Amino acid sequence: MAWKVLGLSGSPRKDGNTDDAVREVLQALAEEPAVTTEFLRVADYHIEPCIGCRECMRLEDCAQQDDEFHLLWRKLVQSDLLLLGAPVYWNAPPGIMKDFIDRSHAYYAAPEKAQLRGKQAAILSVATGGGFEPHESVMRSWLRYYGVDIVEQVRLYACEKGELLQRPSEVQKLRDLAVRLRNRHYG
Ligand SMILES: Cc1cc2nc3c(=O)[nH]c(=O)nc-3n(C[C@H](O)[C@H](O)[C@H](O)COP(=O)(O)O)c2cc1C
Repeated sequence: MAWKVLGLSGSPRKDGNTDDAVREVLQALAEEPAVTTEFLRVADYHIEPCIGCRECMRLEDCAQQDDEFHLLWRKLVQSDLLLLGAPVYWNAPPGIMKDFIDRSHAYYAAPEKAQLRGKQAAILSVATGGGFEPHESVMRSWLRYYGVDIVEQVRLYACEKGELLQRPSEVQKLRDLAVRLRNRHYG
């Protein structure tokens, strides 16, 4: 059974701990031949902040059409499982991730137009030491609003670039997550 897994990193730091964590899980999932994986970074897309015009309440889509929000959103729509990673920045997702989340207000008035209902997501959060709860709460409430089933949530501890992959305990969490996700899908 084909399974499309999108790994999306919301970290501004290229090849940082979040990118590493998402790629590690994708790599483990890709051992299953029927799985197709793709790794993307929110930071690689041009996404303007929501300007709060509220036109979406009438249009049931975003009035800001001159950037790459819709391009990235389509990637979510085309996936079966979203592996969403983000570092904790001041107890919350980083600004670029929050901008992406905010722009999905495009579909607030007509959530079915988001086309995410019934999809699954696993949330990976990376922090030096804390602030996970409010951070996860933002990501969870956002995905749930659009009908996404959050099947896993994993907290990872790392600070400097490269640190996560040097910590056996954190790498183990990622490998265990991949096994659980695979078992859940393939039984
Ligand atoms: C602006 C900023 C805010 C941060 N806020 C927190 C925080 O609230 N709690 C925490 O434990 N770590 C915090 N950190 C540390 C990062 O979460 C940590 O360095 C993480 O590994 C970064 O992931 P990355 O390598 O994917 O960028 C912060 C880092 C930055 C740059």
